[in-house]
Amino acid sequence: METKKTEQNNNQEHYCSIMQKEIFEQPGVVKYLLEKYTDEKDSINIELPSKIDNIVIVASGSSYNCAAIAAPLFIEYADIPCEYEYSSEFILQKKHFITPDSLYIFVSQSGETSDTLNALSAIKAEGVKTMCITNAKNSTMWNLCDYRILSDAGEEKSIASTKALTAQILCSILVLLKIKAHKGEDISGYLNTMRRLPAYLERIKNEEQKIKSAAKELSNYSNISILGNKNYYPVAKEGALKIKETCYLNVMAYPFGEFMHGHVAVLNQKSVVVAIIDEENAQFAVRNLQKIRNDYSPKIICITSVQDVKAGDLNIYIKTKRKLKAIFGSLLTLQLIACELASILKRNPDQPKGLKKVVKD
Ligand code: AGP
Repeated sequence: METKKTEQNNNQEHYCSIMQKEIFEQPGVVKYLLEKYTDEKDSINIELPSKIDNIVIVASGSSYNCAAIAAPLFIEYADIPCEYEYSSEFILQKKHFITPDSLYIFVSQSGETSDTLNALSAIKAEGVKTMCITNAKNSTMWNLCDYRILSDAGEEKSIASTKALTAQILCSILVLLKIKAHKGEDISGYLNTMRRLPAYLERIKNEEQKIKSAAKELSNYSNISILGNKNYYPVAKEGALKIKETCYLNVMAYPFGEFMHGHVAVLNQKSVVVAIIDEENAQFAVRNLQKIRNDYSPKIICITSVQDVKAGDLNIYIKTKRKLKAIFGSLLTLQLIACELASILKRNPDQPKGLKKVVKD
């Protein structure tokens, strides 16, 4: 990607913001974490309870989006029940579902977010096993949990979280693969996929011109809807959150199918849809986008891991058949769009108005 001068990293590359610099660090973060937590024999060096029969993931903001991305993966790949909740809502719940070997996972970049800390204290009082995935060793969360994973993305200065989220998702995937391995299943294929992730993320930079065109297009609209299915719905939410934080636009994310149940009525010629398309939802997405185009004529931008999909006015290709890669690829693409959009709208993504890095009471 073309870079501008302000922020400088150790390799003397120049970035237009800290956020952009941290977005670009992600392939390196993934590579580092895989080297740190896996070995050549495909063992995963993370400590887990010997028995887990149920997982609940609790977090806020981008870390919540990690939870929402990871939970269906735990169910699909590790065959383990997994729910997730916003920390602030979890605290208000009168009862929590606890089984003999429940594991409650708290995800937090800072390890100090008060909503998540309050949720952790509430469940600890019930004697449940707890784990944190955090970027802050020795944080309050780190010290309170029975099990800990350092997401080790390096200090994240940007208020809009990017590399820390990628690291959290990767750590969650390593947890689910470790559970799968415990069950005697072969995880080498999945680890090989993850080891190809850094190169895949680097390749997304080849779509730079289209990513810039997408941001330019989005800058013309205030009615922006981002659509995605299953794991990609929280990816869509994360894209919306990044644009809200950095550009102050009210972007909405929807599960693709649910969008057609009334929400679609917000569309018209002055609106734009960003659709995330992968192998699993391609036919469904293309069919519905055609209907959307016929009925409402919005602009359509597709972020697609399926090469031959041409359903958008602009199609950004992040080609891969592997969902475990496409999730990261679509997130990276949305982060880059948000960063570029902020620059077009003359917002400083490093100083979003009224926001702080850590949300405390
Ligand atoms: C993300 O871009 C936000 N700045 C915010 O939503 C953040 O993810 C949330 O406040 C949770 O923070 P934590 O991960 O440090 O707990």
